[in-house]
Amino acid sequence: MDSRLSTAARRDPLSFLATELDTLKQQGLYRRLRVLEGEQRAHATFDHRSVVNLSSNNYLGLTTHPRLREAALEATRKFGVGSGSVRTIAGTMEIHMELERRLAAFKKTEAAVVFQSGFAANAGTVAAVLTKDDVVVSDELNHASIIDGCRLSRATIKVFPHKDPEAARKVLRELPASQRKLLITDGVFSMDGDLGALAELCALAEEFGCIMMVDDAHASGVFGKNGRGTVDHFGMHGRVDVQVGTLSKAMGALGGYVAGHKTLIEFLYHRARPFLFSTSHPPAVAAACIAALDVLEQEPQIIDRLWENTRFFKAGLRALRFNTGLSESPITPVIAGEGALAMKLSDRLFDAGVFAQGIAYPTVARDKARVRTIVTAAHTRDELQFALDAFAKVGRELGIV
Ligand SMILES: Cc1ncc(COP(=O)(O)O)c(C=O)c1O
Repeated sequence: MDSRLSTAARRDPLSFLATELDTLKQQGLYRRLRVLEGEQRAHATFDHRSVVNLSSNNYLGLTTHPRLREAALEATRKFGVGSGSVRTIAGTMEIHMELERRLAAFKKTEAAVVFQSGFAANAGTVAAVLTKDDVVVSDELNHASIIDGCRLSRATIKVFPHKDPEAARKVLRELPASQRKLLITDGVFSMDGDLGALAELCALAEEFGCIMMVDDAHASGVFGKNGRGTVDHFGMHGRVDVQVGTLSKAMGALGGYVAGHKTLIEFLYHRARPFLFSTSHPPAVAAACIAALDVLEQEPQIIDRLWENTRFFKAGLRALRFNTGLSESPITPVIAGEGALAMKLSDRLFDAGVFAQGIAYPTVARDKARVRTIVTAAHTRDELQFALDAFAKVGRELGIV
């Protein structure tokens, strides 16, 4: 038989994916990627439309900060565009070492290791530190990268209800004292914007001899002195064994890191699979992140501006009587309920000149679909008022308020 014919006649083994996508379309949950034309800014152009951007994690506007841009360009001129390999194989660049020293000093820990992303830092660390004989005790709303790390480790996973340290205590009480345990929470929960119960969980970790880990992806650059994160915000220095941060959100560039004791970091250099089996950042990324740390230390007024904008916008949404959940951070959900309604709210807002992404199941619970807003330091009052007016108009049209 003609081989081309046999190929054409072959049943598509991936046809079930098209069926899945059709289901999403029928449910109103199908998402097209919006294309950003130009820079990631507070006011930006997506799909040829100029809108107030409430969707990025660019909390401090650092994606386009002149100091970061110049540092990246200078590093590219000096060192080229790529690092060439995994750090354990082709040698590590001095600029990567410098970034780790700077992050450790920033986090007030002995050492730090940088990963390609926050996702890789969480998943790689949990999977490296735990084995199948261990137990992880995890908040039910912890980030997907933590969940994947737990699964990869093959440890037993015990989930406690969101921000419920009493429930975590009950889980811990049932476990043998000799068993190794990791107690883990997000510092700021990415879909709700509320803070983990860090102080209570640190006390539990000490009582039950757990390793204490916090994922401060959305807290870095936002909470604590100069944006050091929730460990600093809650005064928990020295009580959290594993601090994860990201360089991809408030820091404006890309990457993730773990800060902690020297032994932990040396161990991760030897056992964390994303560190061992994936190429390190281009030097421009490391240089931009170092410049971001300089900005946090030398221009902390940017963080003050972020919080002024956050207070203004949250108060505006609440005055309009939207359900904004329990947020305590610049992430403010506008909870619509059903997935299709949240997507419609997002689409109508976009038509009205505001980009705020709709989020539905499985990212959030089925009945808690929402539009997620993130205010940045770079928004002007006029832009935020414009967004509030659009929320008021569209929210009323859709019967949400
Ligand atoms: C809570 C949390 N942890 C980790 C990550 C991963 O960070 P990154 O974007 O640097 O991979 C994210 C980002 O989506 C997050 O929201």
